[in-house]
Amino acid sequence: MAFIEASAVSKSFGTGPSARHVLHDVTLEVERGEFVSIVGFMGCGKSTLLNIITGLVPADAGEVRLGGDLVRGISQGAAIVFQNYSLLPWFSALENVRLAVAAAFPAWPRGRQADHARRYLEKIGLGSALHRRPSQLSGGMRQRVAIARAFATEPTILFLDEPFGALDALTRANLQQDLAQLCSSAERQVTTIMITNSVEEALLLSDRIVPMTRAPRATLGRPVGVAMARPRTAAQLLHDEDAVRVRTHVVESLTASVHRAPRLPPLIKSEASDASDTPLIAVPDRTEA
Ligand SMILES: Nc1ncnc2c1ncn2[C@@H]1O[C@H](COP(=O)(O)OP(=O)(O)OP(=O)(O)O)[C@@H](O)[C@H]1O
Ligand SMILES: [Mg+2]
Repeated sequence: MAFIEASAVSKSFGTGPSARHVLHDVTLEVERGEFVSIVGFMGCGKSTLLNIITGLVPADAGEVRLGGDLVRGISQGAAIVFQNYSLLPWFSALENVRLAVAAAFPAWPRGRQADHARRYLEKIGLGSALHRRPSQLSGGMRQRVAIARAFATEPTILFLDEPFGALDALTRANLQQDLAQLCSSAERQVTTIMITNSVEEALLLSDRIVPMTRAPRATLGRPVGVAMARPRTAAQLLHDEDAVRVRTHVVESLTASVHRAPRLPPLIKSEASDASDTPLIAVPDRTEA
């Protein structure tokens, strides 16, 4: 049995004609120590799936097991980095991280918790911003705090929900490299599931990439392994033959899931339409041909 196993997970929101069937029969297996990325379109249900795997949201059908045990709530040893930083606005960067350390290591004296928090903030390049509050930090710095907070709890399982989605391309590239370094230098073996909409980001960080089909009734496609040793650099991946094969597989799987869409997607998004119904690539409905 794999370390993390999601079996036949389905999830809908609402009832009756307004019901939204988001996930359909999703199955995923992640081995201990593996870094797995799930890549999918905007609004396809990625956060919903991650929230079910973490135990934050219950599934309607199917189950999630961690180390063989059914997941019911956030597991000990798991840390989550959310899409939108989720820092406490009235506390400094240091205090935000220390509070997480205090929750993970309640027996430590406050001074030791603060030293530990400071060490992780310094590791991720925030040594000079320890006492600033989130509103006094840039988006990239806030996300660095969120990453330091996750790593400072010394997790054995790390859940990342589009950790760099809100950042500009340059900041994103810097943070991806820092995360790659942190993952490979972690003192304990960390099992990671990352949600992303970027194939390149998944290639840089993952052992395995799983494409997710578009909404509604999204499910996972065939996973593909990335052979190159970690940590990797973007430059290494540019011309690597295996990376080209993986990139092609993921992009083709995502595109195929759009082509299988049963109805004509709007080319111009109407006010009434929902983001999850609008594919990134608009294609004509083949069934009408
Ligand atoms: N609590 C909820 N109640 C009702 N609908 C919800 C709820 N959570 C998510 N949804 C709907 O489920 C669908 C998938 O949402 P989700 O946030 O999982 O997508 P996502 O792939 O993470 O999107 P994004 O790429 O924007 O982060 C969306 O249509 C969303 O409106
Ligand atoms: Mg999301």
